[in-house]
Amino acid sequence: MNKIIFLKESLKSLKTSGTLFPSSKFLVSKLLKEINFETAKLIVEFGPGNGKITHDILNRLHPDGKLIIFEINDSFYNELLKINDSRLIVVKQSASTVLEVINTNNFETVDYIVSSLPLTNIPKPITKSILANSYKCLKSKGYFFQYQYSLTYYSALKATFKGKVSLGFESLNLPPAFIYTCQKD
Ligand SMILES: C[S@@+](CC[C@H](N)C(=O)[O-])C[C@H]1O[C@@H](n2cnc3c(N)ncnc32)[C@H](O)[C@@H]1O
Repeated sequence: MNKIIFLKESLKSLKTSGTLFPSSKFLVSKLLKEINFETAKLIVEFGPGNGKITHDILNRLHPDGKLIIFEINDSFYNELLKINDSRLIVVKQSASTVLEVINTNNFETVDYIVSSLPLTNIPKPITKSILANSYKCLKSKGYFFQYQYSLTYYSALKATFKGKVSLGFESLNLPPAFIYTCQKD
C-alpha cells in the first residue's frame, strides 16, 4: 500500500490511525533494534496500518518464526491479507484480545510486541487492558516496543513494566517520535 492510500485511509479515520504518515525507515530501525531475529519464535505487532513495520519484520524473521498482527481498520486489514507469507497471521481484532489470539494459535508466550497504536486516542479502559495483557503474554525478559508523539504514556508504561522502560527519540520522522523500550522482569 503506498503513501497516498495510507494518507487517504488515515484522513478517513484519524482518531484510530493517530497520524497522517507512515513511520520513517529511521523510526522503524530504532524500534526494532533490540530484536534478536535469530531466536524470536513469536513476534506480535499492534496497529500495522499499511504494513511498513510488518514488511521489515518479515524480511528479517527466522524461517521458523511467526508474526501475528492486529489491525482493526477494514481497508488496512484487506491489504495486509494480500501479503503472501506463511509465517504471517493477520487478525482483524483489537490488540486487547492478544491473550486469546496467541492461545488459539497454540502459543503460550510472546518474545516481542511491536506497537504503533495511537495510545492517547484509544479509550482508557481499552489501553489499560492492552498494556496489562501485553505484559501477561510476554515471556520473561520479553520486550514491548511502542512509539508515541508525546510522553503521555511514559508513566503508565513504567507502572506496567515496573520501571523497566528506556526512552529513545527519532527526529527523522513525521512527526518526530519518542520510542519506549519496555522489558518484562
Ligand atoms: C499510527 S498507525 C500505524 C501505522 C504503521 N504501523 C506505521 O507505523 O507506519 C496506527 C494503526 O493502529 C490501528 N489501531 C488503532 N486501534 C487499534 C486497536 N485497538 N487494535 C489494533 N489496531 C488498532 C489503526 O487502525 C492504525 O492502522
